[in-house]
Amino acid sequence: MENSIPDKKRSSKIKNGADSAQSPATQAHPGKRSAPVNGPNNGGAAIGVADVDKLVADALARIAAAGTPEQLEKTRLNLIGRKGVLPLALRAIKDRSAEDKRRLGPALNQARTTVEAAVRQRALSLSKSVFESLVDDEAIDVTEPLPRTALGHIHPTEHVRREVEDIFRSMGFEVVRGQEIDDEENNFDLLNIPASHPARDLWDTFWLKKPEAFKESSVAATKNRLLLRTHTSNMQVRVMRDRTPPLRIVNIGRVYRYESTDKTHETTFNQIEGFIVDESTTLGDLRGTLHTLFETIFGQKLVTRLRPSYFPFTEPSVELDMSCTFCKGKGCAVCKNTGWLEIGGAGMIHPNVLKNGGLNPNKFQGFAFGMGLERITMFKYGIDDIRWLLSADLRFLEQF
Ligand code: PHE
Repeated sequence: MENSIPDKKRSSKIKNGADSAQSPATQAHPGKRSAPVNGPNNGGAAIGVADVDKLVADALARIAAAGTPEQLEKTRLNLIGRKGVLPLALRAIKDRSAEDKRRLGPALNQARTTVEAAVRQRALSLSKSVFESLVDDEAIDVTEPLPRTALGHIHPTEHVRREVEDIFRSMGFEVVRGQEIDDEENNFDLLNIPASHPARDLWDTFWLKKPEAFKESSVAATKNRLLLRTHTSNMQVRVMRDRTPPLRIVNIGRVYRYESTDKTHETTFNQIEGFIVDESTTLGDLRGTLHTLFETIFGQKLVTRLRPSYFPFTEPSVELDMSCTFCKGKGCAVCKNTGWLEIGGAGMIHPNVLKNGGLNPNKFQGFAFGMGLERITMFKYGIDDIRWLLSADLRFLEQF
């Protein structure tokens, strides 16, 4: 007799019992089939109403024990699937006596309904708990106050660069960009600084090895060495060759110097280069242009002055100063008590440079200037060491 019929092994016993009930051998003794359900000769197949109750209790326990939807599905198939315990038991009673059928049929049908309902119920609560655990695991509390996301801002050097470009545009200048990796020709030769000229030493240079890929090319053949540009003047001749005067050009970008760093020197910094080529521009225009630039950037009345100087690519050459923005020219630590701040170099473009640019120096003339963007940024914001500007140090940057 089956005590419980929950697992597959036992359900197959029922099946076998049912089959054997249909076997010719059993059919030869039909009387046996009408024997009491629990009768000793009925083997595992013959179950009684009490067994059905037990079966239901057992099934309900198994359903309750199913911890996941997958386990529950296994249990369901085992109990009420096509080859499950209950369907087999129901099928088996068709060979039983009318009396057995009358008692067992409704009991088994009822059992099936009960089990089905229990499975449904369990499935619902399992899916609920799956859902609930999802809610717990993945819930986002949209009301929880979060630490504020820090918004970045434009770097002070970049801020001044944009401002300078805008001011020059408003004065009718065109903004061009140049390459930072350039050749000796554009950085030096075409600017009237021949190979052996000592003036080259004014620009300590990072020389580059030619890449393997260039070995066969015309670049290698020219013996024109590559370098990191030492100044933004490298664009002058290119622009002259590319365009026809009048030219009003401003070119701001990174330049590189192979030298040691201190409070006022960096190996990498930005220069503001500008030049005009036409038939009548003078040093007076240069001074007026830069005066306007500085008064706009510093937002105060200033005095500018030119001092004689030397650059191979300008003649005459000048040094440009402005009155100290900190002490208004009275003398302080920043201007070393001179009342003046040195801002950059300038001059009238050398006739040789104009020639290299394909222009007739008897017809055309113009000024050129170059100054450090970081230096102006330092004066504008009162920064005492240029190295802060490339430091990426948040203690510094967050002050702007
Ligand atoms: N190129 C020069 C330098 O790097 C500056 C300069 C530019 C001077 C144009 C005169 C004219 O020092």
